[in-house]
Amino acid sequence: MSAVAVEEENPLVAGLERLPVSPTTLVIFGATGDLARRKLLPALYNLAHEGALPERFHLVGVARREKAHEDYRSECEEAIKRFSRRTPDPDVLTRLLEHVRYVPGTFDDKLVYAHLQKTLDAFDEHVEAPLHRLFYLSTAPAFFPVIVSALGEHGLCRHEGAEVRVVVEKPFGTSLNEARALNRCVLDVFDESQVFRIDHYLGKETVQNLMAFRFANGMFEPLWNRNYIDQVQITAAEDIGIGTRAGYYDHAGALRDLIQNHMLQLLCHVAMEPPVSFTADEVRNEKVKVLQAIDPLTPEQVPEMAVRAQYGPGHSGGEDVPGYLQEEGIPRDSKTETYAALRLEVDNWRWAGVPFYLRTGKRLARQVTEIAVTLKPVPHLAFSEEGSLGVLPNQLIMTLQPNEGVSLRLGAKIPGTRMMIRPVHMEFLYGTSFLSQSPEAYERLITDAMRGDATLFTRDDEVEAQWRICDPVLSAWADDSTALPQYEAGSQGPVEASEIMRDGQSWRAI
Ligand code: BG6
Repeated sequence: MSAVAVEEENPLVAGLERLPVSPTTLVIFGATGDLARRKLLPALYNLAHEGALPERFHLVGVARREKAHEDYRSECEEAIKRFSRRTPDPDVLTRLLEHVRYVPGTFDDKLVYAHLQKTLDAFDEHVEAPLHRLFYLSTAPAFFPVIVSALGEHGLCRHEGAEVRVVVEKPFGTSLNEARALNRCVLDVFDESQVFRIDHYLGKETVQNLMAFRFANGMFEPLWNRNYIDQVQITAAEDIGIGTRAGYYDHAGALRDLIQNHMLQLLCHVAMEPPVSFTADEVRNEKVKVLQAIDPLTPEQVPEMAVRAQYGPGHSGGEDVPGYLQEEGIPRDSKTETYAALRLEVDNWRWAGVPFYLRTGKRLARQVTEIAVTLKPVPHLAFSEEGSLGVLPNQLIMTLQPNEGVSLRLGAKIPGTRMMIRPVHMEFLYGTSFLSQSPEAYERLITDAMRGDATLFTRDDEVEAQWRICDPVLSAWADDSTALPQYEAGSQGPVEASEIMRDGQSWRAI
């Protein structure tokens, strides 16, 4: 059967077409850490499984502890078996692991970089060609500047005849000043075109589908503005607590952890103008314009437009769960927020006056990430008073996880002799329409970084524009000595969240 015939029969094949990736050596700093084990290694396995890794591919793990290549390979194998979205095929796994090496040492030790250089050169000599190099910084953020500077000092930031790129994990700074300093440090060594700042939400199929939804369908765009849209609510609710991440989380909090990056990116996707083309810079230019149109809150506005809270003890998944202050590793007097909600406005022609509500929290009633766009009510109701009771404004809900899909709330007549209206939903579900398991975000992002496509990565000015919005809120909260609102674990969040809503508006149930 020809490729075209296969595509006609199974539209999935079109999306699964693999883009060519040049021979590459991937170096993971922090190779034994949680992210590498849970996400990066399984993603590499799944790429290998689908034949999406370059023909010549090597992986070098760098981490502190001394260990033999063999031991690191066994650790990779164990992590892949445990966390891969598909059961590994022994042959594919063996072939992938054959190309894995380990370099031990602390990230400020010169010897590590000399050792790394030798390892990378040996791969090149073996194939008699310079391989592209991708350095992935998956360490604690304090090491980002250390590693980047060392790569520069050891001349590892360029490679004659090949591309050198660097992926920087989140968090990219913890404030605007830190983000600027980190940008300066990174851009002292690398050109912006070599830098890939990760926001894993951008690698999610459903986030990319937002662009398809907006820009591949003519019917929504005429409505997509202040004349028709009443409000936008973006929710990233999690039912889990902070797990074993106390050390990181207590310094970050919900605003830094999810709003500064993932949720502002979602807002950008909803609010951006159609880019001239889907090239990295055109898309990112449009997103930056949205971020720049959001006026940072003044200290007086913060209490009216931002809410934070912390979870107390409660129930989750049918079990009693501790409150944040009882979690292991959390100081008993911590004021870190596990819930944050903001009302923002995008001050441009398209959006002036439309509130964008963002909220995220741990230990909420259930896990759901969604964007709900509510249209203005119809201008006049001609039905009888009773008949109109069920008339609600149209609402478009894009669910990113779980049950990815799009749902449109419409008013419909209840069958019968009387004219009575009730809301109904028109649904598109990703799973049933495409009958496929979406690739993990990291699979897409690692491939794009190897290919040098930065469309789904955050640019230097973009990350700074995100911090510009979050900084004043964080400062106001840091100066606020009043007690932090609490919410019960497993609940809808703090009652105080409704205080930032405009008159007549309310949060959707989680
Ligand atoms: C991470 C945050 O960036 O995103 C975590 O640090 C959060 O706290 C996670 O749980 C959510 O990602 P996902 O893909 O599970 O929605």
